Amino acid sequence: MAIPKSFIEELVARSDIVEVVSDYVQLTKRSGSNMFGLCPFHSEKTPSFSVSPDKQIYHCFGCGKGGGVIGFIMEIENLPYRDAVAFLARRAGLEVPEDEKSPEERSRRARLLELNRRAARYFYSVLSTPRGAAAVEYINSRRLTPKTVKAFGIGAAPDEWTALSDAMCAEGFTESELLEAGLAKKGRNGGIYDVFRNRLVFPVIDVRGSVIGFSGRILGEGEPKYLNTPDTPVFTKSRNLFALNIAKRTKRGMLILAEGNVDVVMLHQAGFDCAVASLGTSLTAEQARLMSRYTKDVVIAYDSDAAGVKAAQRAIGLLEPAGLKVRVLKIPDAKDPDEFIKTKGPEAFELLLERSENQVDYRIDAVRARYDLETDDGRLGFLGEVTDLLASLPGAVEREIYSRKVAELIGVSPEAVQSEVRRAARRRASGERRRTEREAMRPEAAFQPRDRSLRYDNVASAAAEEGLIGYIMADPSLLRDTEDLSPEDFSSKYLGEIFRELRSRFSRHEDMSPGVILSTLGAEEAARLSAILQKPVSLGNAAGAIADYIDRIKTEGLKTGENRDLLAVRDKLKQKKGLGG
Ligand code: CTP
Ligand code: MN
Repeated sequence: MAIPKSFIEELVARSDIVEVVSDYVQLTKRSGSNMFGLCPFHSEKTPSFSVSPDKQIYHCFGCGKGGGVIGFIMEIENLPYRDAVAFLARRAGLEVPEDEKSPEERSRRARLLELNRRAARYFYSVLSTPRGAAAVEYINSRRLTPKTVKAFGIGAAPDEWTALSDAMCAEGFTESELLEAGLAKKGRNGGIYDVFRNRLVFPVIDVRGSVIGFSGRILGEGEPKYLNTPDTPVFTKSRNLFALNIAKRTKRGMLILAEGNVDVVMLHQAGFDCAVASLGTSLTAEQARLMSRYTKDVVIAYDSDAAGVKAAQRAIGLLEPAGLKVRVLKIPDAKDPDEFIKTKGPEAFELLLERSENQVDYRIDAVRARYDLETDDGRLGFLGEVTDLLASLPGAVEREIYSRKVAELIGVSPEAVQSEVRRAARRRASGERRRTEREAMRPEAAFQPRDRSLRYDNVASAAAEEGLIGYIMADPSLLRDTEDLSPEDFSSKYLGEIFRELRSRFSRHEDMSPGVILSTLGAEEAARLSAILQKPVSLGNAAGAIADYIDRIKTEGLKTGENRDLLAVRDKLKQKKGLGG
């Protein structure tokens, strides 16, 4: 069942794009009415990501992405359309009027998800009470910061039999709902008792942002180390990954697969926001497929003990068939990523990752093989080429480390190599800066539509068509001046379709705000249209501009194929008229 148009319109109206984007991007007010920030979709140092509060759209002048609020959520949360709508609906406190499931089942699931959400909130709130003291102490001993605790919604289950059950029953949930959610078990005396007691509790949040279950870690040593929510109507362990809800937004272009939740959380805290873990089962094929939806590269960072090595071998066998490129991290002198980061620091972990990623040693060796290092010429040639390679490494630490290695290879001082590398790095940086400046000046040039139908066959006409659409979207009443134009007159099929949509909405008195129109388009189309909407229009001389555009579109249309003869006739007529007048 399709989601009704009217619902989408209400959702867009109730989801202010500035507020939604601000959850992910720090926006500052700048030129004109637009807000700017660093684009979450590509790496950049100067903000080229703009949000228009009045049009309710976003557009990045750097990478060309753009769209309305639904498109933004699809892109940043990596969700298909329906899920993005559901995500925003939850945020706006609206209920999506649809679902294939029967109404009873839908509301039962909704109840369980709501119960989980309240339970997560309860566990978190316990941390600031005396009943959470032991958990807080444990959190501190693992050196997790309050910011991290909050970001993951980590909480504490009190050392009591019915703390959670009591709290949830007081909020209106039933014992049978607690049992069904896997939060409680039936006791011998007929009552229920809490599953999670005296544990650090990690909510498991799916990629749509729903709390679907929990992992509880014992505070300190003891067995079992982790207790997980059993499979429930809303939770299937084998199909979910801990922290994927956060990791799916990473810009690192990979996922790190770790073993324990503490490892994952510590990795995130250290800046590795792409870490996930399977939920107590060994990795499943479904989890591998889930990962492949978000990345093509997986780095396994399991514990370094024999069990971890064996588990890694098994995981490779599942990840590769899912089309993933797999690397295994060897973590030296530490039992797991958490301990490694604590003793060696995030920089060292970065290095570990980059080494496995860039295979720097391997690449240096490859360059070296092309030169005879016994001769001066050979050494100079090698140095020239290898400094470019070193300059391309993103971190200062590994540039330094590999500079030393290279220096040793050719028997010069490390300082000499390092200064060469710095020179090469400056060359690269200025080249890159020129490139981004160029791109920022020509916003649309950075956007190369993959879809053929978005390419313009007739640029002169397309420019007029874009201009026309821009004016109409700024002031829909201008459609009254376009009566003798039809969508078929457009040289760009895509712009013609937008014109058709605008016209039909206008005649039916439907919502024509840019944010709503963009939500009806695919990502590529929305990006293109958002670019068009960046161009300023001056409504003062709108009527004249519209007439000019229409004239140009018609004239250019006549130039094509069978119309060419007609055009010649028209030109002659014009000339005659000119002579006569
Ligand atoms: N595990 C689990 N349920 C989870 C997460 C992990 O049962 N939700 C299991 C894993 O299958 C693995 C172990 O717990 O066997 C992972 O533990 P470890 O990495 O040792 O966990 P940490 O919390 O990082 O513990 P430590 O402080 O000892 O490193
Ligand atoms: Mn660990």
